[in-house]
Amino acid sequence: MILISSPLVLWIALIIIVSILLASRYFNVLSSSPSTIHVHRSVGSIRAFLHPSNKGIRELLTERARANDHLRKGMGLDNTFVSPDLAVHKKFTMQVRELIKTPQARWTDFRELTTQAIHAELANSESGALFDRFVQCVTLRVVLVGIMGVNIAVDSLDSESIVVVVDGITQLWSLSKNPGPSSRKLLVQLKYHLRRLVPDEDTFPNPLNFVVPAWETLWRVIATAIAYTHDNPRLRGLFLDLYVNPKEEVFRAEQRDGVSVKGVVDETMRLHPPSRHISRMQPRLRWSWVPGVLLNAMEHLWPGTQFQFQRGYADVEEVQRSGVWGDDAHVFDPTRHSTGRLREGQAETMSFSFGFGPLRCVAASWAPMAVAVIGASIFDFLEGGEYTLVPGPKIGAREGWKGWRIESSSCGGSISSAEKQS
Ligand code: HEM
Repeated sequence: MILISSPLVLWIALIIIVSILLASRYFNVLSSSPSTIHVHRSVGSIRAFLHPSNKGIRELLTERARANDHLRKGMGLDNTFVSPDLAVHKKFTMQVRELIKTPQARWTDFRELTTQAIHAELANSESGALFDRFVQCVTLRVVLVGIMGVNIAVDSLDSESIVVVVDGITQLWSLSKNPGPSSRKLLVQLKYHLRRLVPDEDTFPNPLNFVVPAWETLWRVIATAIAYTHDNPRLRGLFLDLYVNPKEEVFRAEQRDGVSVKGVVDETMRLHPPSRHISRMQPRLRWSWVPGVLLNAMEHLWPGTQFQFQRGYADVEEVQRSGVWGDDAHVFDPTRHSTGRLREGQAETMSFSFGFGPLRCVAASWAPMAVAVIGASIFDFLEGGEYTLVPGPKIGAREGWKGWRIESSSCGGSISSAEKQS
């Protein structure tokens, strides 16, 4: 009986699906392909997309969680970026806010910590290090001890585990859209090494939840800001002033032409926002009249096609390089951000680096100063003359830093094969 009825049920389902598709064409319901991605490229459109007036925080969390599902599957995250749960959002954002409550005076401690992290990274290296790997490792040490409060001296963190974690996150990120057996193996290894670095399971049941949003964004802004300023003695000098006196006033202090360390960090994030695209999966209203069970079946028949939800993203990178910034929008110019110089529309686009609306980054006012202090510590270290920064042909992103290295001045700087392998 079952054998007879199963194909029959399948045939009936198929006929219904085909009828729905034909009907939708007839009534012009399917005006855009189900796999079309809606891209938002203007201030108004991005605002309406990330914070529509008719939606509450629950819906916003659900839309973000759906869009980030690959991070849950591929990277094992279970924080608010991948969860629709209001309680998860509240607990996670409160914990992050507590962790980054750095009173003014503590920036000096942050600077000391970074300096120790830099020395720890180069302690066992005679020739030097790859620049991106160096910034990644220094930043991870600082995130673990300075933000997450891991109770170990920053130079006692196990170097092997540090490297496995930074390489693991970078590789998993690129594999996360298509996770397979190799990425699952990588995740197990990554989690094992991260647990060695963060033993406190009660406070951090899944340390990746914190490490990924903090480290992934910070290291790239630090590396890029250094790449833009290392060959400009004047800008380097401003960072060195901040190293001596790590205060918000120094960070913001504008020279006669308006340039400041804050301007350098802002301009770096304008041209290279770490979150280039902010994605959401929103309900597709056109299909709301079709029963959910049939939509599920249709998605099964057309794998990769979403009939129930519409993927979209805010194109932060494009809007921050758009014509609103003038004909030289692609040129790095930190003076753009000086007091009174930002023109209408520019400040609005800048704020998108940290998102928009109720889910905007909780570290938005803390992170730029942290970037500046870590950058200043690296410049101060290079001033010592023991190591030099050798630039590569182009500024990278998450990857693409070929040729960039920190080279020992005494050894003429060939990088050992151990340091080359990733
Ligand atoms: C330059 C550095 C950073 C950039 C550019 C950045 C960017 C962003 C963006 C674009 C969002 C919004 C995501 C969305 O709407 O889907 C976000 C949210 C968030 N970020 Fe950051 N972030 C940075 C640093 C950090 C750091 C250091 C931490 C933690 C210590 C952090 C924690 C968070 C959290 C918890 C949220 C979620 C807020 C919520 O759901 O209410 N971020 N960040």
